[in-house]
Amino acid sequence: MSAPAPPLLERLARVVGPGRLLTADSDLAPFLTDHREIYHGRAFAVAQPDTAGQVAELLAVCNAHRIGVVPQGGNTGYCGGATPDDSGAQLVISLARLNRIRAVDALNDSLIGEAGCLLADVQRAAQAAQRFFPLSLGSEGSCQIGGNLSTNAGGVHVLRYGMMRDLVLGLEVALADGRLLSSLTRLRKDNTGYDIKSLFLGAEGTLGIITAASLKLFARIRATATAFAAVRDPGAAVELLARLREASGERVSSFELIPRIAVELTTRHIPGVRDPLDAAHAWYVLCELTSARAADPCDAMLTECLEPALEEGLVEDAVVVRNERERSALWKLRETIPEAQRRDGASLKHDISVPVAAIPAFIERAGQWVRDHVPEGRLVSYGHVGDGNLHFNINQASTTDRTAFLARGETVKRAIHDLVREFDGSISAEHGIGRLKVAELERYAPPVELELMRAVKHAFDPNGILNPGKVLREQR
Ligand code: FAD
Ligand code: MLT
Ligand code: ZN
Repeated sequence: MSAPAPPLLERLARVVGPGRLLTADSDLAPFLTDHREIYHGRAFAVAQPDTAGQVAELLAVCNAHRIGVVPQGGNTGYCGGATPDDSGAQLVISLARLNRIRAVDALNDSLIGEAGCLLADVQRAAQAAQRFFPLSLGSEGSCQIGGNLSTNAGGVHVLRYGMMRDLVLGLEVALADGRLLSSLTRLRKDNTGYDIKSLFLGAEGTLGIITAASLKLFARIRATATAFAAVRDPGAAVELLARLREASGERVSSFELIPRIAVELTTRHIPGVRDPLDAAHAWYVLCELTSARAADPCDAMLTECLEPALEEGLVEDAVVVRNERERSALWKLRETIPEAQRRDGASLKHDISVPVAAIPAFIERAGQWVRDHVPEGRLVSYGHVGDGNLHFNINQASTTDRTAFLARGETVKRAIHDLVREFDGSISAEHGIGRLKVAELERYAPPVELELMRAVKHAFDPNGILNPGKVLREQR
């Protein structure tokens, strides 16, 4: 495939209207690389539609002419899914202008938003209606709900509210052949055959382009208690989680594991981040209880759990926040870990999950492997341990050459992912496959599952125009 001839370019330009088909190199540049600058692609144009109809029309033209399209949301993804290949023959479709909140229905606890709405704007719209939209990620100020749906994003509230997949009632999707699937239902019960919408969730733009979604809202949070606790080891963290759940049930809404090195990196690289405790400890958890009832004694439940744990040595020290300023300081520490890691140097990232109870054994085994085999790296293993998801990352030590360190990536990934398989875990817990993990999916997914995935891809996109080469290898 090569770049389309001028009449076809004019046709695409007519679909989106004046100035909305970018072709100048300087205009294209921001859309051609991912935020970590690992992938660099080329595209003949970037289209900026502002209606679902325009997205569908773009696809009809591209399908007729076998032009590959790459949907792009906030471009905060980790797997290169939103970056075009290097052929220069693909069209990037930016969803940023589809950013209207179409409806908020507080009585039905639902909201309909367009794909290009920033996640933070959806959270704000829910709040304005005295409701709560629970998806929360460090990138929420720049990622879009279309990207969140397409990667089935996770984040810091999964243990209570589930992943993005669990927050969806209905979808509107532009299909490869230009039809618009309009299924923006607000129903919680609907058993009418196959759940087609679920196929687009986590499909990373390979089955259709999501243009809008009907999302679930929840009761507004009126009581919050947050603690930063130093724990003896990851086993103590898992034990503390079980105790918190026992004491407060559904109220546990976040439970994040943080190693000492993450405190060192954030305090060194991120202005304003301070170590919350006086002495250094090997491991910490940031945990939060929340409730929709203002009178719910979340603080008491948290301290009643922490006090005996302190006496037993499970917890070595802890601070419970007294106000919103202290709370946001703790969350800033947690959410800037990826940025601090980036500023510190190159990193080898592994977004994995294992059953929660297996987290300590996994950290022990995989950590030992890293110490034995990657002496030039420093393990930065943190994450959403309440739902078994670890960001098992290895940062380059300051004395190491960046290129030589990154060249170790394949060997390290193989060892870590093989171990994940041994633990019945997943090689992509929340970031998806994109182009980064296509070969990994082929290696670790059950063959029957891969066959079914290819059949689904063929049924939805017989000409292979939708995000070619992402999730599944291109079929020719
Ligand atoms: P993009 O990066 O633009 O795209 C991601 C994929 O979706 C691509 O394949 C793209 O083609 C496709 N796509 C985008 N929009 C559409 C659409 N409308 N229709 C069809 N396909 C589409 N992720 C987590 O899960 N949990 C975290 O805790 C988390 N924390 C993060 C913290 C930071 C600081 C950063 C930078 C990222 C973090 N991420 C996290 C990763 C990222 O923010 C999520 O994957 C997010 O869901 C991507 O959304 P996006 O709009 O940026 O999508
Ligand atoms: C996070 O939880 O901070 C991100 O998903 C992980 C990352 O950015 O590496
Ligand atoms: Zn994460």
